[in-house]
Amino acid sequence: MAFLVLQYSPEVCAPWNWFGFRSETEILRQHDDDGFLPDRGHLIVELVGEGEPVPIGTVSWHAVDYGPPPTSRGWNIGITLVPEWRGHGHGTRAQRLLADHLFATTVAERVEASTDVENTAERRALERAGFSYEGVLRRAQFRAGGWRDMALYSLVRGEGAPLEG
Ligand SMILES: CC(C)(COP(=O)(O)OP(=O)(O)OC[C@H]1O[C@@H](n2cnc3c(N)ncnc32)[C@H](O)[C@@H]1OP(=O)(O)O)[C@@H](O)C(=O)NCCC(=O)NCCS
Repeated sequence: MAFLVLQYSPEVCAPWNWFGFRSETEILRQHDDDGFLPDRGHLIVELVGEGEPVPIGTVSWHAVDYGPPPTSRGWNIGITLVPEWRGHGHGTRAQRLLADHLFATTVAERVEASTDVENTAERRALERAGFSYEGVLRRAQFRAGGWRDMALYSLVRGEGAPLEG
């Protein structure tokens, strides 16, 4: 939990995931104590090698219902890595592992992700993770004083080459 609260700072989240200062209570209200609720969840991304695992960021997901759940329920995922761990392929891998986990543990047929049209790193990470570009959600997100266009991507069950390694 401490990692979640510390991570929600402008130093880590700006520009793409920064929506202004929020109280610790508000940050934690979005998450339950163990990271899982029926319609949302989060996990800490850890690098596992020799020695202690290193926390390098968080991934999250929330339900998007396109009709009555559970059959028409998909998941929208998000990610923030701490700056020093970006650009090493971890974002690609973490998002694909999360999608695979959601397909393995729920009946969802669709995992989607949206990001600012100008967020090149996230767009490339999603493409490398096997997601397909679907189009633009116009003026969908309010951030940094303005409405932002979001690029929408999805991965459907059975799609995408397995991750290497
Ligand atoms: C977006 C994010 C998750 C991507 O993860 P990552 O581990 O940094 O990215 P990867 O190393 O997997 O690289 C993915 C691709 O993006 C490219 N990339 C990485 N950083 C980049 C940057 N700053 N600008 C442009 N392209 C970049 C990589 O070169 C790679 O593309 P390639 O296959 O053409 O070489 C991570 O950078 C991050 O947490 N950013 C801040 C938070 C954020 O933007 N979250 C998403 C908001 S919706």
